[in-house]
Amino acid sequence: MDKLLIAGGARLSGEVSISGAKNAALPILCAALLTAEPVTFTNVPQLKDIATLLHLLADMGVKVERNADTVTLHAAEISNPVASYELVKTMRAAILVLGPLVARCGETKVSLPGGCAIGARPVDQHIKGLQAMGAEVSVEHGYVLAKSPRLKGVRLFTDMVTVTGTENLMMAACLAEGVTVIENAAREPEVVDLANCLVAMGAQISGAGTDVIRIKGVDHLHGTTHRIMPDRIETGTYLCAAAVTGGDVRLVDTSSAYLDAVIDKLMDAGCDIVSERHAIHIKAPAKLKAVSLRTSPYPAFPTDMQAQFMALNCVAEGSAIIRETIFENRYMHAVELQRLGADIKIDGNTAFVTGVAKLQGATVMATDLRASASLVIAGLVAEGETIVDRIYHLDRGYEKLEEKLAALGARVRRMN
Ligand code: UD1
Repeated sequence: MDKLLIAGGARLSGEVSISGAKNAALPILCAALLTAEPVTFTNVPQLKDIATLLHLLADMGVKVERNADTVTLHAAEISNPVASYELVKTMRAAILVLGPLVARCGETKVSLPGGCAIGARPVDQHIKGLQAMGAEVSVEHGYVLAKSPRLKGVRLFTDMVTVTGTENLMMAACLAEGVTVIENAAREPEVVDLANCLVAMGAQISGAGTDVIRIKGVDHLHGTTHRIMPDRIETGTYLCAAAVTGGDVRLVDTSSAYLDAVIDKLMDAGCDIVSERHAIHIKAPAKLKAVSLRTSPYPAFPTDMQAQFMALNCVAEGSAIIRETIFENRYMHAVELQRLGADIKIDGNTAFVTGVAKLQGATVMATDLRASASLVIAGLVAEGETIVDRIYHLDRGYEKLEEKLAALGARVRRMN
């Protein structure tokens, strides 16, 4: 299993290019299931999760062509509308094929996602929505079986804000008969990127980016070309990496447009941030100030940036209170950060972090994608060597992480 070896203490400087957004690419690639025509996507990040999804789509009979960051998918016929446990267990987002498959094929069998390190993460809202649209849905032997000759447009209300739930139901509604209204919809920018792609494919959608999305079903969608938006979480992660090292970094091929909550906190921590049209320039002070935060659905502070900010607070001046409100078990990085000498106390969904003068390098274990990112950030600033074990989690969501960090001056290398 690969590990990452980091010699801490190097100040990051220079320019880094941000990749396309994993969490936009995953649903958008699934949207290709909704049409018999080829669809081309650009700025698709080269990540393990994307490779897994392309494998899954190919398994269903979709023709997949990939050339660097361009992917063309042609779902002329879907011979096998099934997502097996073997493929779904490593990537929860595979549930995103459920809506498109039932809408396009009238029948599908999709494995329930396996257990997840950051909490139970059920898919009841996805199922409830499809049932309300007239699908017969049952869960048998670990699989969701859904059937419907044609889904019907209805008014849907999700019990909580769910990102992939909103995306699944929005995709299903594109080919339904009549109008679907999704209330309490997720407002995440990735939902908007998906809606833009669907509209370019001929869907009739309004309200994406608000909490009420209206979709008027059409009989067919057609092919298009769509560029995936920049990854706001990768952007935020490099901003934190620059911040903890007192760095001076320009992030290109990205935008601060979807990062207000994160950028506000970095400015509170003492960073100087200048936003350009397709770039962000961060200059960090020698010592950061601790910043408290509370995670919530967009546009509030993203749960996917919580771990990275915990690492930042570990080396800041003062104390911070972090509240995680989206997932019930998302502090597994805290014990690993403690191994590096961090002062963190956890009480339920609240973490109390007091900055220490120095973290010390040690061997730590990555437990999920963003937790791994927080350990890398801590390793960059820790004294001595940090080994981050189990970095397959990082490979799921960060393109060329060690290359990008090394180009900014970090002393980091992968070990087999
Ligand atoms: C997406 C993101 C993930 C991010 C999360 C929250 C993708 C591929 N993943 O995950 O990176 O951390 O949003 O911003 O886009 N829930 C239910 N029942 C459901 C659906 C969700 O109880 O049917 C709960 C979840 O357990 C969680 C909360 O709702 O507590 C939000 O989850 P959700 O927004 O669905 O997360 P994902 O879409 O899986």
